[in-house]
Amino acid sequence: MEMDDDGRLRRTGTVWTATTHAITAVIGSGVLALPWSVAQMGWVIGPLALIACALVTYYTALLLTDCYRTPDPVHGQRNYTYMDVVRSCLGARDVFICGIAQYAMLWGTMIGYTITAAMSLMAVRQSNCFHSHGRKTTCRESGNLYMIAFGVVEIVLSQFPNLEKITVLSVVAAAMSFAYSFIGLYLCIVKFASNHSPGGSMLGVKIGTDGVSATTKVWHIFQALGNIAFAYTYAMLLIEIQDTLKSPPPENKTMKRASLYGIGITTLFYVSLGCVGYAAFGNSAPGNVLTGFYEPFWLVDIANIAVLIHLVGAYQVYGQPIYAKYEEWLATKWPESAFFHKVYTVRLLPSAQARSFRFTACKLVLRTAFVVLTTVVSMMLPFFNAIVGLLGSIAFWPLTVYYPVTMYMAQSKIRRGQRKWVVLQCLNLAALLVSVAAAVGSVAGIADRLKSAKLFKMEL
Ligand SMILES: *[C@@H]1O[C@H](CO)[C@@H](O)[C@H](O)[C@H]1NC(C)=O
Repeated sequence: MEMDDDGRLRRTGTVWTATTHAITAVIGSGVLALPWSVAQMGWVIGPLALIACALVTYYTALLLTDCYRTPDPVHGQRNYTYMDVVRSCLGARDVFICGIAQYAMLWGTMIGYTITAAMSLMAVRQSNCFHSHGRKTTCRESGNLYMIAFGVVEIVLSQFPNLEKITVLSVVAAAMSFAYSFIGLYLCIVKFASNHSPGGSMLGVKIGTDGVSATTKVWHIFQALGNIAFAYTYAMLLIEIQDTLKSPPPENKTMKRASLYGIGITTLFYVSLGCVGYAAFGNSAPGNVLTGFYEPFWLVDIANIAVLIHLVGAYQVYGQPIYAKYEEWLATKWPESAFFHKVYTVRLLPSAQARSFRFTACKLVLRTAFVVLTTVVSMMLPFFNAIVGLLGSIAFWPLTVYYPVTMYMAQSKIRRGQRKWVVLQCLNLAALLVSVAAAVGSVAGIADRLKSAKLFKMEL
């Protein structure tokens, strides 16, 4: 068998496989918030924000592709993950801080997914209820029950190791996210076509309508920035995609093309969905676009169920690295304890070929506790756009801009005061401001909602 220079099996990826990976990795539940985000900013800033965020993501992706191999982008040694690249370019202290950002992002995504899953189930119930009883009925129900049900399913799934390595799951996830993204776009187009003129206004949601005060308006704009940033989360995944490419041509060259195509296609889709959705709903665009449709109810149901199927699997993809991290840490801290080390084996079937199920008491207890904690936090803070905005703020400055820019400067020895240094630092500063704004807007939004809403109450 043929080997690559690092002794691993020869890589076979091309610019097309990498483009596909990039698109399927980026497009996810973030699309659901795009029409709402554009509505907060209006026809001018909304589309501009979508495009600006894409340009920043693309530019920092270009910088990051040169860091896959260090110290030379073509002949250097490979690294296999984002964290490894941070370690080899910057050192241990940065790995620690970057780790905090990355794990916060993973856990926050689990919370966001719990909320989104409950919303999808509520939307299915609502569209069916409206379909059979007419729009006049009140179809109220509790989101908490759905979150608990989702949590129970995830407790069971959390016991299976290496879920993220199962190829079928990622194919299903990609298929589902395409299904709900395109159904969402289709429903927006149909709704837009039935309007007489495009909705919305130059500056978005107007101050004074629906109790939107000037401060709320500002927080919502900031949250919308975070929501858009979340939809473009790409940097964390780039190195792993680059690690599937064959060479020659050099991986960084192929990956630059793949990033251009991947981010280009994604942006085209995002701008269409954001703008058509805004034109369809106007300033009252719902936080999660799929909760704004009632008919045809079966298509709305299919889209929402696709969201649910995607999230059930994706939740564990975000959860597994967290479990692995703390389990490893605890196991080295208490090397003698049976709680962490005694492996129990349960036969699932009594036959000889039976698959057995192995676990430690630690895995059973702590993973369950972790999922329960995540579910309780989601029930306390069921605010879709504010949580997504917060996630976007964590993802944008540290992971998408700061580390790629800093690593690139360290690797290509760009000195303080050079023109490129000035440009990169300006980008860094601008991104920091956006992230801080998104974080402040989201936290203020959560605080606002907590003041007015009852705890543990979720609304569509
Ligand atoms: C990352 O690259 C550096 C070389 O710059 C190398 O020393 C290190 O071992 C690599 N890390 C991994 C995990 O491959």
